[in-house]
Amino acid sequence: MTLDRTVKIAPSILSADFANFGAEIRAIEAQGADWVHVDVMDGHFVPNLTFGPALCAAIRPHIKTVMDVHLMIAPVDPYIEAYAKAGADFITAHIEAGPHIHRTLQSIRAAGCKVGVAINPGTPAGAVAPLLDMIDLVNVMTVNPGFGGQKFIQSQLATIRDLRAMIGDRAIHIEIDGGVDTTTAPLCVAAGADVLVAGSSVFRGGSVDAPEVYGTNIAALRRAAG
Ligand code: DX5
Ligand code: ZN
Repeated sequence: MTLDRTVKIAPSILSADFANFGAEIRAIEAQGADWVHVDVMDGHFVPNLTFGPALCAAIRPHIKTVMDVHLMIAPVDPYIEAYAKAGADFITAHIEAGPHIHRTLQSIRAAGCKVGVAINPGTPAGAVAPLLDMIDLVNVMTVNPGFGGQKFIQSQLATIRDLRAMIGDRAIHIEIDGGVDTTTAPLCVAAGADVLVAGSSVFRGGSVDAPEVYGTNIAALRRAAG
């Protein structure tokens, strides 16, 4: 199956107005977002706490595109069913979240979701090699996970290139998460990425009352990505 590798912009609602998730999601999709990226954090795997399955279920009816759930949690397995029931299209688990990533990815597939694996900046691309025939997406963290608005880690460009070479013509998205802006977006795409998660660079300067700013920011990212 050939994969549509046109660049997709996936705003992270970590940077949205937490008091207006439904309106914010409708706004970014109306302004050109291709996917909606949901950064789930447990205060254990990462030093921040965000959204549970109940919030994901509440926002699901407002998402017309793709609900891309990134689980920055450990352990993962006890929660897969709940995020699948909440309506996730993709569920991505961190390879570092426990000793049994192969079983975790099997469980995500069994729950009926598309399967993603995420790697932190300290994890080499080669760690994903044994998993390539189980996944639909690799999320390459270009910041240390936990917060939006951090600086892009340039050394991850080599990891993206390595993954692109490993993946070959398999139908696997390469998603970049962290510090994506008009400067780093073209570097990521040139290295082989096709899904760009962007929080601060999409939401910066906009609001539900000024959603056109989101459109300007998304268009600028798409133009920069080439
Ligand atoms: C980190 C998060 C961020 C975020 C993107 O754990 O996953 O990467 O959503 O935020 P920005 O685009 O602001 O770096
Ligand atoms: Zn993320």
